[in-house]
Amino acid sequence: MLGLSRRELLLGSAAAGAAFATGGLAARAANSPDHTLTISPYEHGLLPGTITRDMMSFAPDDPPPVLRMRRGEKALIDVQNTLDEASVVHWHGLRIANAMDGVPYLTQHPIEAGQSFRYAFTPPDAGTFWYHPHCNTLEQMGRGLTGVLIVDEDEDPGFDLDVPLNIRDFRLGGDGQFIEMFKARNAARGGTYGTVSTVNWQIGPVYEVPAGGLVRLRLALTDVTRVGTFGVEGGVSQVIALDSNPLPGPMSAGNILLSPGQRADVALRVPDDDGEEVTLFLRRPNGDKALARFKATGASANRQLADLKPLPANPVPKPDLRNAEVIDFVFGWSPEGDAPQASICGSLGYTFWSINRKAWPGDVPGPLDPLARMKLGKSYILRLRNESPNAHPIHLHGVSFQLLRSNKRKLPPLVTDTALLLEEETMEVALVADNPGDWAFHCHVIEHQKTGLAGFLRIE
Ligand code: C2O
Ligand code: CU
Ligand code: CU
Repeated sequence: MLGLSRRELLLGSAAAGAAFATGGLAARAANSPDHTLTISPYEHGLLPGTITRDMMSFAPDDPPPVLRMRRGEKALIDVQNTLDEASVVHWHGLRIANAMDGVPYLTQHPIEAGQSFRYAFTPPDAGTFWYHPHCNTLEQMGRGLTGVLIVDEDEDPGFDLDVPLNIRDFRLGGDGQFIEMFKARNAARGGTYGTVSTVNWQIGPVYEVPAGGLVRLRLALTDVTRVGTFGVEGGVSQVIALDSNPLPGPMSAGNILLSPGQRADVALRVPDDDGEEVTLFLRRPNGDKALARFKATGASANRQLADLKPLPANPVPKPDLRNAEVIDFVFGWSPEGDAPQASICGSLGYTFWSINRKAWPGDVPGPLDPLARMKLGKSYILRLRNESPNAHPIHLHGVSFQLLRSNKRKLPPLVTDTALLLEEETMEVALVADNPGDWAFHCHVIEHQKTGLAGFLRIE
């Protein structure tokens, strides 16, 4: 197996040898996890000269690790929850079995404080994904629980270097400590933005990249709120995939619109001269902000973008548009007011939003029925109507969908798991309901999700 280090191979054979004598160890070795995530309280120096307390990570002594898997190979991930509250882990964008989807009450019990849970699944698609809790989500993601997950293509496309970029904000005061996670009046509008922009938990990191080489920048916007336009300047670069799915043709990497939960894979041809820099910017009306820099190092490798093998399409079934049934969804205000303060897995205490006039507390499915039922194997067109003046990144678990059209703009024929619905936009997307189960369906601005803009669809 390609991903196995020499050390793991040695450990593996030692365990197998011991098992020969004792019998009992063989099962344990075969059963050992490929990854372990330990959901832990954490402290980290984010702002210079300060240590941010009350952070959370997926490792006791490190920021969230990048998980790497291979398409079509089963992965075992042991999650240990060492927080003093419940948690759960969701694998955003992975079309896996419902029982492994990590939504409390809908697909599994929350992982209580001190408990652990083993996830086992086989990723069907390659690309850049991410993982995060689905329990007390604003708090837990806000404090750090967002990580990048990479599923490698069957065949190496030929990059010299792969750079995962976990892009997110933290909401800190000048002393480096967390301030209130949200303001109610923002939750009822565009959401509450963080105050400190980071990439891989660093402010403005600089990465050394091979001069003249080919680098795959994997942008994952894991922020709880931010919708933003990102741009790569310097060298030659192209977007080659969005939300894990290869683009039909290359797109400029100068202005990439991403909303919470979305990803972009950028192929970068690094400049030839040692020391020359490439910058990842967040575009802002009052001036671009440099988020990360990439410094050409060494003698030119003289590679060209044309050297790369095109990414293979993921095996997402094509919807039968002629026989597809249309299901309408309207995203808007909530007819209700305050939500119950106390609920397992966290409530923000307000209800502002709804899907089809139903408001959900967010992570808890509650007594409500699915927003829609779909027949296994059938094609559907989801008509997503945003009647609010705010943008909503609409995310569906378990199945990928194809963008068809919008009343506001021309949509590329992308396949995705998260679509940004602009203010007052109506968008049609299509899918084949090929994965049975109850699938969460929500806005990925977490304050919207947690104040009503959530629900689930049933495929049966
Ligand atoms: Cu990224 Cu319901 O999740
Ligand atoms: Cu998801
Ligand atoms: Cu929203």
